[in-house]
Amino acid sequence: MQKLLAKYRFYLFGALLILAAVLLAAEVGPASPGLWLVIVVTVLLLMSARRPRCEGFVSWKPEYSVGISSIDAQHTKLLNLINNLRAAVLCDTGKDFERGALEDLVAYTQEHLKYEEQLMREHAYFDYEGHKAQHDQMVSQVDTYVRRFDEQGSAILPEVADYLQRWLMQHIQGTDRKLCEFLQTKDMQ
Ligand SMILES: [Fe+2]
Ligand SMILES: [Fe+2]
Repeated sequence: MQKLLAKYRFYLFGALLILAAVLLAAEVGPASPGLWLVIVVTVLLLMSARRPRCEGFVSWKPEYSVGISSIDAQHTKLLNLINNLRAAVLCDTGKDFERGALEDLVAYTQEHLKYEEQLMREHAYFDYEGHKAQHDQMVSQVDTYVRRFDEQGSAILPEVADYLQRWLMQHIQGTDRKLCEFLQTKDMQ
């Protein structure tokens, strides 16, 4: 019931405002400024209710590039999967769909981290241990979030998306960039 009220609160409030406008029109007549104010507020409210809220979504920008095309492509896909997770929550898609979006994000994150770790080993990267420690710490945090999702449901997902987005942006622009500068000296592009 609470979820239903939250979902339709704009329409409920709009209906109440329309009722107020009708009553006001009967009371004061159509020329009243108060009546028109109520009508304008109602229309604006209903328009805003239909506009999707896109706060927190992130788009790939050229300045995020680390100069290695395969890694850039994987980082772009990770940001898209984070956006998918946000959209799944925002659009109230249900627990199965949300679980799918979370599992896709977790699986692709692990695949990406393994790809970087393999490159580090192949090229005997000097900071393999330090870089991998950051990956391991993030994987452990994500495991905790997945367990919390099983217990708490979708309420936890915006926090997961925020954490992964923040972690990824910092990691890309610091640790991954350092790795990719090294890989470029090994003729990777
Ligand atoms: Fe990395
Ligand atoms: Fe990365």
